[in-house]
Amino acid sequence: MQTTGKDIGGGAGSDGQFKTKLGVIAATLGSAVGLGSIWRFPAEAQQNGGGAFLLIYLACVVVLGIPVMLAEMSLGRAGGADAVGSYRNLAPKSRWWLAGALGVVSSYLIISFYMVVAGWTLQYLWDSITGALYSGTAGESMTAMEHTFHDRMEHYICSDIDPLISTGFMILLNIGVLVMGVQKGIERMSNILMPLLFALLLIFCIYAMTLPGAAQGLEFFFKPDFSKITWGVAANALGQTFFSLSLGIGILITYASYYPKSTKLVSTSVTVSLLTTLVAVMMGIIIFPTVFSFNLDLSSLRGTTLVFVTLPEVFAQMPGAQWWSILFFTLLLVAALTSTISISEVSILFVQKRFKRSRLAATLIMMCPLFVISSICSLSFGSLDGIRLFGLNIFNFLDTFTNNWVLPVCALCTVVFAGWFMPHDALRNQITNGGSISTRLYPAIRFFIRWVAPVLILLILAGSI
Ligand code: TRP
Repeated sequence: MQTTGKDIGGGAGSDGQFKTKLGVIAATLGSAVGLGSIWRFPAEAQQNGGGAFLLIYLACVVVLGIPVMLAEMSLGRAGGADAVGSYRNLAPKSRWWLAGALGVVSSYLIISFYMVVAGWTLQYLWDSITGALYSGTAGESMTAMEHTFHDRMEHYICSDIDPLISTGFMILLNIGVLVMGVQKGIERMSNILMPLLFALLLIFCIYAMTLPGAAQGLEFFFKPDFSKITWGVAANALGQTFFSLSLGIGILITYASYYPKSTKLVSTSVTVSLLTTLVAVMMGIIIFPTVFSFNLDLSSLRGTTLVFVTLPEVFAQMPGAQWWSILFFTLLLVAALTSTISISEVSILFVQKRFKRSRLAATLIMMCPLFVISSICSLSFGSLDGIRLFGLNIFNFLDTFTNNWVLPVCALCTVVFAGWFMPHDALRNQITNGGSISTRLYPAIRFFIRWVAPVLILLILAGSI
């Protein structure tokens, strides 16, 4: 099948399609908004000069994020299949499908460790509900409490059994949604959870803004200190763009194959990118005033500390600690769940299409091995800590390797293919829905996909070397 001409693909029919416009946005946004925007963003902003980082990140979203997203979406809807199948359909007899295969493999590597962190959030939610997280901290000084939460986190993450149980639960939760299929599973879950996520964020934002000393935090976050802008900061912002917009591993190729013909790719990609950025900005509005108001150390935003030590410490000082804690870990869990679902879907649709398996079989074939592979990642903080690759434990190696190398390479293939090799007219037809919407922006979009995005991605790769 070669999809050219007026046939813009989409509308795979039956269950292989999102039903409503809201569903398209909610599911795509659900994939993007994850630990990347909620947890990684504030830490990156803190380390890279606050407002300066925010500005560069915004620029990266516009010049790189949206074009790459459009390239992936066009490929997916035109190809009408999983990441490998879409390349095959659009360029039969070529080896471009290998780029899709790289996406499927890397999605699987990413999900294997992402699931572990998603499991941690589940455990922290549970411990907030039972109150175990806060037991014994009443009356402790800030320093003592920080030690308590720190020890608790380390003890938990580095132990063997407990994280395995929560990771297992998280995998089961994913299976539960994924077997229900595209409309009844992914779309319905996203339609319910994404509004909930925004409501929770809003509650926290309002609370944070009313804290004494909030202005100082907002100033740090919004006032750019241009002297902090370096190549390193720019490279980090580019990396954050990929991570937070779910680019580079075929997620959007997969999801766009479920988009109806009527979905407008440009407005969808702009909406999703802006809303994801809004979430990241809201997290900044929550975290920085809190840090200043509670006189916390800015460096405590880094790594696992922010969500598993610093925030519990803050909650413990607030009236109704347990409730705030439940709300926050629900927020984090929602963000993680909708993202894990999308990362898993890449390989599930691949198996479903390539090996002609039922939804149930494909889901089980891809998700069950995760019980073992994610366990290995989880144990790499505990019993398997001794196994080192380039000096990193298995978890950190996978994290670094996929983010620094595989994502940029995969994304580079996507934009080069969409800009230079996809059948003539196919890109235009995707962007303009077969000519039924304005083509004015098309030349600029094509220019960004053909030139700007590849050059920027090569720069990131050069930076990594
Ligand atoms: N975008 C999601 C997040 O921010 C999921 C995600 C994490 C992701 N890492 C990724 C998607 C890397 C693609 C590539 O959490």
